[in-house]
Amino acid sequence: MNFAATFVSLLSFISTALAVSFIVPGAVWTDTSGAKILAHGGHVIKVGTTFYWLGYSVAANVQPNIYSSTDLMNWKHVGIASTAVSQMYRPKFVFLDGKWYIWGQVNREIVTLVAPGTTPASTAYTLTGSPALIPPDARSFSDMGVFVDDTGLNYFLSSADSNNIQINNINAGTPITIGTRVADLEDGALEAPGMFKASGVYYFIMSGKTGYRPNPNKVYWATSLAGPWQGGTDIAPEAVNTYNSQNSAELVITGTSTTTYIFLGDAWDINGTDASNYEWLPISVSTSAHTATLQDFSMWTVNPNTGIVTSSGFANITLDAADGIVGGSAVIKKRAVHNINSSSNVTFTNVIGNGDKQWVSFKYSVSNVYAGEAHVSVNGAAPINLSELNSRAGHFTTVPVALSLKNGANTLTFGTTAVKGGEFEAHLEGIQVFDDY
Ligand SMILES: *[C@@H]1O[C@H](CO)[C@@H](O)[C@H](O)[C@H]1NC(C)=O
Ligand SMILES: *[C@@H]1O[C@H](CO)[C@@H](O)[C@H](O)[C@H]1NC(C)=O
Ligand SMILES: *[C@@H]1O[C@H](CO)[C@@H](O)[C@H](O)[C@H]1NC(C)=O
Ligand SMILES: *[C@@H]1O[C@H](CO)[C@@H](O)[C@H](O)[C@H]1NC(C)=O
Ligand SMILES: *[C@@H]1O[C@H](CO)[C@@H](O)[C@H](O)[C@H]1NC(C)=O
Repeated sequence: MNFAATFVSLLSFISTALAVSFIVPGAVWTDTSGAKILAHGGHVIKVGTTFYWLGYSVAANVQPNIYSSTDLMNWKHVGIASTAVSQMYRPKFVFLDGKWYIWGQVNREIVTLVAPGTTPASTAYTLTGSPALIPPDARSFSDMGVFVDDTGLNYFLSSADSNNIQINNINAGTPITIGTRVADLEDGALEAPGMFKASGVYYFIMSGKTGYRPNPNKVYWATSLAGPWQGGTDIAPEAVNTYNSQNSAELVITGTSTTTYIFLGDAWDINGTDASNYEWLPISVSTSAHTATLQDFSMWTVNPNTGIVTSSGFANITLDAADGIVGGSAVIKKRAVHNINSSSNVTFTNVIGNGDKQWVSFKYSVSNVYAGEAHVSVNGAAPINLSELNSRAGHFTTVPVALSLKNGANTLTFGTTAVKGGEFEAHLEGIQVFDDY
């Protein structure tokens, strides 16, 4: 008997989650224990070689929730930062005078938590100070961000309820408080502010105010935080509504080879629940035009040391829908299959699997997201609704899901189910099968 081999296979059997090899915008992301990551309206910072992701968990009464990672893909759950607060929206870390704080919006005021020690990775943050409105006009607010300038100074970004985007100084002291106003930007109904600086220019990203429905997020720029702020250009083609997401914060990776700017967005479900996913994409900055544009990658990685983004060359198979076998009344137009209703489907045979979990992207659209669902059947097993694998299925045109395929040839059937008594159909462009997870 080969003990080493037995030990290895036992280990792989008891390990609960497979290592993640890609950032897959819009997919369901799980932590190292296999649980869905709940860190909405969040923020990512880097301390030494570790990234900390702070966001809120709806399941935990909208309390701040922390994860840590060294590669932005494999996230270990640190835990709920504090149970002393609830209904704290869009929390952000602030580090000042050797102390770690969490700031978040509770009842449209700022509420402050402080960590007991010298690490942001704590589950024992306690309440400090008093809830506060934004000076100098005592405005209430909805969304907030934190920007650290290369001077080391911290700034508080907020979308005030009076449709003003404000930048305020942060006062040192114990605890920190919101200081004087640096800028007041008024350009219609904007929220969800986040900022980064590139080549001496500040880029201020924010979304429109449309609740949890996505809109074309905008970028403004200035050479001084006090303004004048110019622009208001879309960060992605207008029609894609920021790839169905909303800005939450920006992360800058200052690597040894290049500096990479990353948009951290939420792909909300209609009610902003924990079924919401995340849309993280690199930002390409034009220093001459002063625009910031999201790079539309279905799968990518960033090297945290060099800063280099890799977005292609991953082993994958792309199949057009017309490469499949069409069952029933659906029709092939160009290379896509249209009118897939509950009496038709598309079957792909000979989909090569690696015997483990791997990403499969379905590119499709539906006639009405509330009238039915697309599903997939793997090797003749009972169909699984794609919404069970990706809570935002149907809302996106590219729906990445993790499927367990057997080693060698697999058969995948794409079909639909209409909500009882209704009409529903899907148009399938094709699928892309990646050989890893
Ligand atoms: C969203 O909330 C509304 C109002 O509470 C509810 O009627 C609806 O079913 C919810 N939708 C989803 C998709 O959860
Ligand atoms: C998919 O594989 C092809 C080569 O077969 C490669 O050119 C392409 O970049 C890959 N796509 C992605 C997203 O990695
Ligand atoms: C695909 O659709 C055809 C025609 O409706 C049907 O006969 C077949 O059983 C379906 N296959 C699967 C796997 O659902
Ligand atoms: C599916 O579409 C075909 C062709 O349009 C139609 O004849 C059939 O009744 C539809 N089936 C269902 C269940 O809606
Ligand atoms: C799959 O989706 C259909 C259409 O919405 C629904 O009727 C059905 O109950 C779902 N199946 C499961 C197992 O949730």
